[in-house]
Amino acid sequence: MTRKFFVGGNWKCNGTVEDVKRIVCMLNNGEVPCPNHIETIIAPPYVFIPLVKSMLRTDFQIAAQNCWKGKGGAFTGEISAEMLANLHVPWVILGHSERRQMCGETDAIVAEKTAYALNQGLKVCLCCGETLKEREMNETNAVVCRQVGAVAGKIACWANVVIAYEPIWAIGTGKVATPAQAQEVHYNLRKWLDCNISPQVAQATRIIYGGSVTSANCKEIGSNPDVDGFLVGGAALKEEFIAILNARNYQH
Ligand code: PGA
Repeated sequence: MTRKFFVGGNWKCNGTVEDVKRIVCMLNNGEVPCPNHIETIIAPPYVFIPLVKSMLRTDFQIAAQNCWKGKGGAFTGEISAEMLANLHVPWVILGHSERRQMCGETDAIVAEKTAYALNQGLKVCLCCGETLKEREMNETNAVVCRQVGAVAGKIACWANVVIAYEPIWAIGTGKVATPAQAQEVHYNLRKWLDCNISPQVAQATRIIYGGSVTSANCKEIGSNPDVDGFLVGGAALKEEFIAILNARNYQH
């Protein structure tokens, strides 16, 4: 079974209306592989979603960077999965380490959010990843499997889930994982899915890498057998995102 190459652009908390227009223009003009070969998601801040949606080429899909864990209501400042579905936003990124670390999102909360969003018909880019300390203590696999395992306890179907492995020490630091480090964790995650969910889910689920991905390192990381694409932060705001979308040499 071949897994379609998957690339996400996570804009995080960046941009003005002018920046958004400029970046979308750049994306719209980029030459990228056709959707038979690649699935691309763009995750602007919530407030810019309608603007991006109105301008963005239709072969790129929109993602939110987060959503509330349950049904909407008296939750000041939150955005519900129903609202995203209502706006026809197909994807949501959940469990990003910045939210785990800065907004107190536990494994349990991320699992609850994932299950709820999937139930509302959204597709989920589920992030996991270890700190530098955890890596140095040889806990990387235990941590990512624990994070994914929490979600596994709450969902029955993996068809609409992409897993993003993002070592925290590599995010926004310019310190990218080596291709071998990425491959090892992706392989272990896939093995975990094989043993704990099913061989079919393990074979079909895309596992993408994030953390200082650039046009310079994407080809080498992306050529590993268990690396199915990228979640890109800083470089997603720049022209080089187009080069990252072309990391694999598909005919256009
Ligand atoms: P980065 O961010 O590419 O800026 O390291 C990746 C991410 O956090 O998704």
